[in-house]
Amino acid sequence: MSLYSLIRPILMKMDAEKAHRMTISLLKTGLGPRYAFTDPVLETTLWGRKFKNPLGLAAGFDKDAEVIPAMFNMGFGFVEAGTVTPRPQDGNPKPRVFRDEKNKSVINRMGFPGKGLSYFADNVESYREKYGPSQGIFGVNIGMNKDAPSPADDYRTGIVRLAPLADYITVNVSSPNTQGLRDLQRRDDLDRLLGALVEARNGTSAKPPLLLKVAPDLDAPQRQAIAEVALRHGIDGLIVSNTTVTRPAQLSAPLREEKGGLSGQLLTSLSTGVIGDFYTLTKGVIPVIGAGGIGSAEDAYAKICAGASLVQVYTALVFEGPGLISQILEGLAAMLKRDKFGTIADAVGSAHASGKRQAKAVS
Ligand SMILES: Cc1cc2nc3c(=O)[nH]c(=O)nc-3n(C[C@H](O)[C@H](O)[C@H](O)COP(=O)(O)O)c2cc1C
Repeated sequence: MSLYSLIRPILMKMDAEKAHRMTISLLKTGLGPRYAFTDPVLETTLWGRKFKNPLGLAAGFDKDAEVIPAMFNMGFGFVEAGTVTPRPQDGNPKPRVFRDEKNKSVINRMGFPGKGLSYFADNVESYREKYGPSQGIFGVNIGMNKDAPSPADDYRTGIVRLAPLADYITVNVSSPNTQGLRDLQRRDDLDRLLGALVEARNGTSAKPPLLLKVAPDLDAPQRQAIAEVALRHGIDGLIVSNTTVTRPAQLSAPLREEKGGLSGQLLTSLSTGVIGDFYTLTKGVIPVIGAGGIGSAEDAYAKICAGASLVQVYTALVFEGPGLISQILEGLAAMLKRDKFGTIADAVGSAHASGKRQAKAVS
């Protein structure tokens, strides 16, 4: 019996955010679970960076970059901390995170609470001093303060401060809980924003890859516009997707009324569809990182075959605990071998009729 199965009932009875804060405190002690699985079939290279496996921790779990080593120790191939905003802010009034245990899904309307960029960057600096690049690929996810006079300035501040510290930077324009944020996905706004941010990134000496994280709630013309703009600006990756503002029929009745973004099992098929679309729209040129309701190796594999070069999880960790990581990695390796794929990169996009079996990872 795992330790998590013993503490799970206690965590599930607690308010979701309190349970999360307790988990973070526990992980900070360094006594978190340890797991490592290596198999060459799971290795992949993107942006000239080697990932020992394609499973990452999605943004929102470690908002203030406080438990990076603990998350790598759990077995993740990459970890994304944030969303961080330039100045500290409280976020929305509590309660603001709600679990639907039956559907293994969560609604959150956190609104980017956090201790701000200075605290976050200090944590990452200490992490880098202690571990360097040894543990795995480390990404940061940046946002804007809710009262930002100029969104572009807030994102620029994040890029300039974090470029020397991160293996990649994700521009989050898709959280539903900051007013006006998702509007930045509109063609003209996105065009201006990405123009400014690519310039800011190019002005740094480290020039880390710049990724864009998008919502699953985009109609076909919006998806096409985002793909075109991202291609034109040479965006290095798309994270597909953030949480959804839709409310599937299966969602438990009391949760239907809660505002915020839905994640977990009820997002799985929606996000896989959007991943497939962006893979096709960007012609496989921009690597896609797939997120949304991955709760098993099968879910992860479906996203890879739809076009994801890497995948991320958050919500299923809440319900399944850290044992989820071994289930996904070992299951994924077995499925790749069963289907005679030599590497993850060979399987990327293989679900598409035109999907060609790539010989090498995109680099
Ligand atoms: C409580 C909670 C907080 C989140 N906070 C962020 C965030 O700060 N920034 C972000 O880009 N995504 C955030 N997300 C979205 C996740 O990173 C992920 O894109 C989404 O939940 C879908 O994956 P999942 O179903 O595996 O959770 C959050 C999700 C949850 C459940």
